[in-house]
Amino acid sequence: MLLERGLRGLCILAVASQVCAHIKPENILWGKAGPPVAVGRQQNGPPEANPEDTVESTPEPPPESSSEVAPEADIKPDEEPAQEPAEEPTEEPVEKPAEEPIAEGEQDPDPTFESEATPTERAGPSCTNGPGTRGCWSPGFSIDTDFDAEWPTTGVTVTYDLELTGGTCDPDGSGPQPCQVFNGQYPGPLIEANWGDYIQVNVKNSLTDNGTALHFHGMRMLNNCPTDGVPGITECPLAPGDTKTYTFQATQFGSTWYHSHWSIQYGDGTFGPLVINGPASADYDVDLGAYTISDLYYGSAYEVGIQSHDNLQIDKPPPFPDNIIINGTNKNKEGKGEYNQVRIEKGKKYRLRIINGSTDNSIRVSLDGHTLQVITSDLIPIVPYYTDWVLTAPGQRYDVIIEANQTVDNYWFRADAAFDCYCLNKGPGGRSIFIYDGASGEDPKTSASKIPNWGCNEESPLVPWVPNVVEGGEEQFTSQAVNLQFDLTREGVSTNGENVVLWGVNMSAINVDWSKPTLEYIQEGNLDFPPELNVVAVPAPDTWTYWIIQETPGTEVPIPHPIHLHGHDFYVLGRGKGVFDIKESPKTLTYDNPTRRDTAILPGGGWLVLAFPADNPGAWIMHCHIAYHVSDGLAVQFIEGIEQMPLGDEQWQQQCDNWRTYALTAPYPKLDSGV
Ligand SMILES: *[C@@H]1O[C@H](CO)[C@@H](O)[C@H](O)[C@H]1NC(C)=O
Ligand SMILES: *[C@@H]1O[C@H](CO)[C@@H](O)[C@H](O)[C@H]1NC(C)=O
Ligand SMILES: *[C@@H]1O[C@H](CO)[C@@H](O)[C@H](O)[C@H]1NC(C)=O
Ligand SMILES: *[C@@H]1O[C@H](CO)[C@@H](O)[C@H](O)[C@H]1NC(C)=O
Ligand SMILES: *[C@@H]1O[C@H](CO)[C@@H](O)[C@H](O)[C@H]1NC(C)=O
Repeated sequence: MLLERGLRGLCILAVASQVCAHIKPENILWGKAGPPVAVGRQQNGPPEANPEDTVESTPEPPPESSSEVAPEADIKPDEEPAQEPAEEPTEEPVEKPAEEPIAEGEQDPDPTFESEATPTERAGPSCTNGPGTRGCWSPGFSIDTDFDAEWPTTGVTVTYDLELTGGTCDPDGSGPQPCQVFNGQYPGPLIEANWGDYIQVNVKNSLTDNGTALHFHGMRMLNNCPTDGVPGITECPLAPGDTKTYTFQATQFGSTWYHSHWSIQYGDGTFGPLVINGPASADYDVDLGAYTISDLYYGSAYEVGIQSHDNLQIDKPPPFPDNIIINGTNKNKEGKGEYNQVRIEKGKKYRLRIINGSTDNSIRVSLDGHTLQVITSDLIPIVPYYTDWVLTAPGQRYDVIIEANQTVDNYWFRADAAFDCYCLNKGPGGRSIFIYDGASGEDPKTSASKIPNWGCNEESPLVPWVPNVVEGGEEQFTSQAVNLQFDLTREGVSTNGENVVLWGVNMSAINVDWSKPTLEYIQEGNLDFPPELNVVAVPAPDTWTYWIIQETPGTEVPIPHPIHLHGHDFYVLGRGKGVFDIKESPKTLTYDNPTRRDTAILPGGGWLVLAFPADNPGAWIMHCHIAYHVSDGLAVQFIEGIEQMPLGDEQWQQQCDNWRTYALTAPYPKLDSGV
């Protein structure tokens, strides 16, 4: 029996072609930028902060939010939200392959800062962060700071203890669901720090028969790969009873989340918001804080994981979620459960940090009657723009400012599965209520604004506030690309004998070994990686690398994939429908201040071109953030700067020893790729 189940785990490799029959392979092309060039405006290494000197403290609490209000007892439980977007679409969500690339950042954004402080003032020592001066931060640091190169060192360490336990949760009144959560909370507790602080998280695995490992999504972890929290790559999982302290400096600021990267665990609630306070590219009065949106499956995520493996074998998508949970709560189909309520005051501007913690679905969010001013994409401040709906894919985050300038009333906040991203939800849709001071608090009667009809495409334009230029530009990209001796439409792995590799996921789904992480191979000087680790080496540090990710044409179900990279942000040079044309497509790419983020959508049946500087030694995974897809192996890891790579210390080694001991008698086999 055990053997059979074990084999089933190994089956991932065979399943890979099934994954691809359904998802179709992503061919990942990796090309080293020609001659080694200094990377962008990069300066290597964090400042010599001495953690010994740090003091423990917690950051200033965010402005008071008045949303913790129990719903009124007389709320009609089954009054349907005003409008069901699922019924609304008139266009078929069919991908029409087009040769045209999708315009990215073409629209010229309004460069004016909607703030009282000028750039000069923002740089000055007297400019402090406040409602009219959100661009300011601390002396010498502002929204204009190039945070790749510099960041404050506050000397502060904020410390959090997270204990993972198993049990049940009931986020939508449907009865107890199995869950694995930190400190008994779904989602887990907020981790909050200020820009430049050290964050120390003590994780204890109090599950009796599952491992865990904690990843801080989007955190650069500069020269700190052993803290990246990816089992089988950067560490062994934490065995039951074991503890690990993750310590890193918040060199970036903004809204993100932490989640277990072990198996399919985060689907059972093993995640929470992570907010790093810093400057912003537009002004607001009140920070409402993190607003996590996640999909809920009744039953255990491990069972849903098995179901989705089985579905892949017969060319079916993973199961659809039963509900969408906003900030930990929602009503279910029967009207049980509670809506999250947010109190706002007419005339004020609110910052809301939308964090998509879902496992499978892309979500569209909006607030009836209100325009959203978008100020970040992932951890990158952008030139603000206005929109009615924001589309988030799993792993993506957008911070928005909402101006409470409508009639005093109650308004639906909506988070709906994006039908045109092949996402469905069996529940009523994600709903919460924004209540103006003086309004009744009843269920709103408002209706949704029209859903945009541009399909499952990423938000645009997403123009980074601090401009960047991708080194080498088209010339370098093209000179690499024309060297490639293969047809991108052909599946397979090939090299040009120099420094370019084409890699097809269907050849080899990743399947890591929890008991032998990649960093241990490197520690031992053993670079003989088994093929199923999907290792791609980046030979020269401090050069730009370019990746073309191609979904094989002719895919029956052209699902878009949110591609997420660890250890870096990437620059999104372009994307398009159909096949990347090695002659024509490079001309369409943006090299001058392209969108920058850590999770980007690969269009269904199309291509995505990313670039990033190899400036962070480590073993980093790049994967699809649909939890079931990475579980099925849709990932690659790349190894960067072997000579300079930081490796595990004694505690790290002890954790591996503990895991290996536990694994000898672990009650459950490994059923997925484990990341
Ligand atoms: C989200 O939930 C937390 C915990 O209940 C609460 O403290 C916070 O105010 C809520 N956020 C918003 C924006 O409602
Ligand atoms: C984790 O525990 C759940 C039960 O809570 C079990 O179904 C699953 O198989 C376990 N997975 C592993 C890999 O231990
Ligand atoms: C956002 O939430 C929706 C709803 O749960 C989910 O389907 C989608 O995958 C999430 N996106 C992210 C980035 O988590
Ligand atoms: C409310 O604010 C938005 C910007 O957030 C603006 O576009 C809209 O015109 C304003 N509406 C009113 C009624 O002032
Ligand atoms: C895809 O997988 C199938 C089955 O393993 C294999 O025959 C085929 O060669 C693979 N194609 C590529 C490009 O790897």
